[in-house]
Formats: sequence, structure tokens, C-alpha cells
Amino acid sequence: MKYRTLGKTNLTVSVIGIGTWQFGGEWGKSFSQPEVDQIIGRAKELGINLIDTAECYGDHLSEQMIGHAIKRERTEWIVATKFGHKFHGYRNRTNHWSAQEVLDQLEDSLRALQTDYIDLYQFHSGSDEYFDQDELWTMLDKQKQAGKIRHLGISIGFNDNLHQTDAATRVGAEAIQVVYNRLDQTPEERVFPSCIRQNLGVLARVPLASGYLSGKYKPGATFAENDVRHHHNQAQTLEKLRRVEEIKRTEVPEGVDMAQWALAWCLAHPAVTCVIPGCKDVAQVEANAKAAELDLVRDDHPQARLHL
Ligand SMILES: NC(=O)c1ccc[n+]([C@@H]2O[C@H](COP(=O)([O-])OP(=O)(O)OC[C@H]3O[C@@H](n4cnc5c(N)ncnc54)[C@H](OP(=O)(O)O)[C@@H]3O)[C@@H](O)[C@H]2O)c1
Repeated sequence: MKYRTLGKTNLTVSVIGIGTWQFGGEWGKSFSQPEVDQIIGRAKELGINLIDTAECYGDHLSEQMIGHAIKRERTEWIVATKFGHKFHGYRNRTNHWSAQEVLDQLEDSLRALQTDYIDLYQFHSGSDEYFDQDELWTMLDKQKQAGKIRHLGISIGFNDNLHQTDAATRVGAEAIQVVYNRLDQTPEERVFPSCIRQNLGVLARVPLASGYLSGKYKPGATFAENDVRHHHNQAQTLEKLRRVEEIKRTEVPEGVDMAQWALAWCLAHPAVTCVIPGCKDVAQVEANAKAAELDLVRDDHPQARLHL
């Protein structure tokens, strides 16, 4: 595994983390505690120390399973979670952004995670209107001073949100989470330069384009109704899968696993600290961890190498 410092925080994170939206049950299967224990246990053996979760991957369900899995080794993990919603059922959430509601969510997250602090507490893709509330950030700063939050982050909802990214330092946030992958390079234009200017850590989310960039799905692939991808725009998915075939043919070196290549591709951008691919089983964690070994140089960023 390789490690980097997350922006101006003092956190040392593995370049490959684990995304855990999947544990909430919206990706075609539900997870049992033993399955989650195995995934997280194997990740630990491979040197992964960063877990990204949220309040609404199930009703604090993903957090609960993570809490159970890591309670004996809490200090060895960097736990990133989020605030702003309540989960009511499959693809059904409501917004809850007042300072008091977020404070209640923080207590619920701490309880679910069986911990007394969160390493990175992230604004979960809310609108600018929810973001621009001084009382929310004042309350969060108090929780930082009380030791319940180590660092604040912003998971921007659309990946060109310069308003929230530019405001990070002002509101006390030290990391940005953003959709970034070989099919969507939007953050390179405005968000990444702002992150570099402010020395913010960057967590690249959806690095496999929801799994499409793994190369295992052919154009026309369909997904079960209880899989979020069933609800993606079909024409757009078809177009993405066609592009993936082209990328595989023209950019992925012979013999290299495409999912690993796609993760290494993200990590080779100088603004990116780490990737947080969603993992559904031990084999995917193992494959994704191996991406840290790939020596990939991008033509568009020749100065940035994965092997630093
Ligand atoms: N607003 C937000 O803050 C927000 C939004 C979205 C995501 N996130 C975070 O970012 C994380 C990652 O995003 P994501 O899970 O949506 O998308 P992703 O990481 O691009 O794709 C995850 C999917 O790719 C497939 N996969 C993973 N590893 C693989 C491998 N080695 N080989 C082949 N297939 C593999 C799995 O699905 P199959 O095996 O079924 O194909 C997995 O469910 C989430 O888990 C969550 O923690 C945050």
C-alpha cells in the first residue's frame, strides 16, 4: 500500500480506501455482519486505513456494521462519514440540515460507529443554500473543539461546485470529496485548482464510474431493480459502456486489470489524495488494493506518477 497526507490535515491515508454505500443494501444485495467483517479485515491486512461511509447508507446501517468491525482497532482507522439526510428506505431520503438536526445526526453516527470521534465529517452533497448557514459551521467547529470531530470535509454534489470548494478554508473544511474518474474529468477544470490552492485533501469518489469502468459490463448490460444502476439513464449508460470499450482498447495496457488501471489513473492526478472505490466482496478489495502497485504515468499529467 502507499500512503499520502490528506491535504493540510495531519491524517496519513492509504491511497486506496473503501467506499461503503454498498453496505446500505442499495447495490443489488444486502450485507451480513460477517461479510462486512471479512471485507474490512482483509482491507486492513492489505494496508488500507480509510473507510468512507455516510449517515444514509441505510439508516446509519453501514456505519453500524463498520463500527462493529473496527471497534477493537478504532485508532488504526481513518473513518470518514457524512451528514445532511435521513434514510427511510430504498432510494428514499429526506434533507435535514439545520444545526440541531446535524448535531443529532452526529450523535447517531458516533453511536452507530461505536466511537467517540469521527476523523473526517463531511457535508453530504447538499445545495448551496444548505451550505451557506453560518450557524451550521459554528456548531461543527464547537464539536471539533469538543473532540467529537477531528476534521471537516465537503462532499460536493455536482463535480463543478466551485462555490463550496472555494469556501472550504473559510468554513474550516480541509478535504473535498468529488466524483472523478476516466469518464468524468470535470473537477480538473476548476475544483482541483482550488483544492491545490487551498492545500485540501481530495477523495475521488465513484472512481470506477459505478463499476462501468471495471470493463466487465458490455454495452446493453442491465441491472436488477434493487441495484442503483437500474435507475441510471439507459442511453447514458450505453454511451458510457461504449466509451469504456474504446478506452480499454486504446489506453489500458495489455494484461492490466481495467478496474485497477482506472483507480491508478485517478491517483496519477496531482490534486488527488486517494480513491474510495465501493467494494462488495473480499476479491474486489484485493483487486483494488493492487492498484497502488501500478506504475501509471498520464500523458496529460506526466509530472505526476503513482510511485512517488
Ligand atoms: N454524495 C456522496 O458523497 C457520494 C456519492 C456516491 C458515492 N460516494 C462514496 O464513494 C464510494 C464509491 O462510489 P460508488 O460505490 O458509487 O462507485 P464506484 O466505486 O465507482 O463503483 C463501485 C462498484 O464497482 C464494482 N467494483 C468495485 N471494485 C471492483 C473491481 N475490482 N472489479 C470489478 N468491479 C468492481 C462493484 O459493483 P459490481 O461488482 O456490482 O459491478 C462496486 O459496487 C461509495 O461507496 C461511497 O462511499 C459518496
